[in-house]
Amino acid sequence: MGDFKTLTDIVRLAQANLDKGDWDYLVGAADTEASLRRNRSALESWVFLPRILQDVSKVNTATQLLGQTLRIPVVLPPIGSIQAFTEQGGSAVAKAADEFGVLHILSSSCAPDFETVAQEVPGPRVYQLYLSGDQAWLDDQIERTIASGYVGFCLTADTQVYSRRERDLMKGYVPMQARTATGTMLDPGGVNYQSTMSWDLVAHIKEKFDIPLIVKGVMNPEDAKRCVDVGVDVVYVSNHGGRQLDHTLACIDALPGVVEAVDGRIPVVVDGGFMRGADVIKGLCLGATAVGMGRFEALAAAAGGVPAMLRALSILEREIQISLALTGVTNVADLHPGLLVRDQPLRPSHVLSAFPLLEEGY
Ligand SMILES: Cc1cc2nc3c(=O)[nH]c(=O)nc-3n(C[C@H](O)[C@H](O)[C@H](O)COP(=O)(O)O)c2cc1C
Repeated sequence: MGDFKTLTDIVRLAQANLDKGDWDYLVGAADTEASLRRNRSALESWVFLPRILQDVSKVNTATQLLGQTLRIPVVLPPIGSIQAFTEQGGSAVAKAADEFGVLHILSSSCAPDFETVAQEVPGPRVYQLYLSGDQAWLDDQIERTIASGYVGFCLTADTQVYSRRERDLMKGYVPMQARTATGTMLDPGGVNYQSTMSWDLVAHIKEKFDIPLIVKGVMNPEDAKRCVDVGVDVVYVSNHGGRQLDHTLACIDALPGVVEAVDGRIPVVVDGGFMRGADVIKGLCLGATAVGMGRFEALAAAAGGVPAMLRALSILEREIQISLALTGVTNVADLHPGLLVRDQPLRPSHVLSAFPLLEEGY
């Protein structure tokens, strides 16, 4: 299953392997899905103004994040109910990430749980926790995260309440993890601890625990500044792939303001619509240290588990190397905003508009 030739192939395979409910859960977003489309549209309207005649016979795509060397500047972000896409769920993504050499952020809203994944696939990764208990519960979870060898802890701040995803609502689709007793991130009948999260909680975690903290879902430069002020270790720009607040700024467009606010003090990660090597290069040009690729990860998993994820990552690596060389840059650390300008997107964007050949029946 790991022998396909292009990234377009993984999308086709994923769609063939998933039923309509799981497919729509993967590609869908909140309300009118405008945040989702805007992510792609903005990425497609940043275009290269490349430099030429640099010696690009050797290019270096490696970067550092949380003390880890990433073979390409990519993180595999948390995907709830990933077990709907590949049987081994979080363990499969962990395996692919470790074997390839990128950082995986495991969602608390998937199976197996974080301790089982740590046992099954020892290796550096980050744990993203949705709160489903009080502060004592949280403290216990963080202690166990540290004991299990995770190199970072992630709070997702754009999901204090769960959005309305019409594709799922219309079919009565319930994400796989929410079908189990332990998957109740935001139990409508119980206390919604996630909605009580505040800066005090961030300060508490930083004071009490010695594990790098990522805050995911930062869009506003004021929040980015505040993250730095309270000692957050990584700011993660995200609108949850358009799955939470509708009508946000595109993440790639929120990135420059956040990068300016952070002013080099901590790394900035971005996600939202990134599907191709050239997209990753654009994110780095605008100041990100690494780029998260959520639907890319889920599509690759659905296309054929670990082998398909490994193949997808190596095609992505090749795309990154080629884009890097053709922008006249040999090292990802040397990418800069001067290589990009803004132009009109070619046509209306959608979740899969990075794969135009699909529309031609490939
Ligand atoms: C199916 C699916 C499930 C997701 N589950 C989570 C989750 O459990 N926790 C989280 O922080 N983000 C979650 N996200 C958001 C991703 O981590 C990431 O921010 C988003 O997918 C980035 O946009 P992209 O899909 O366009 O790359 C999920 C995204 C998808 C597509």
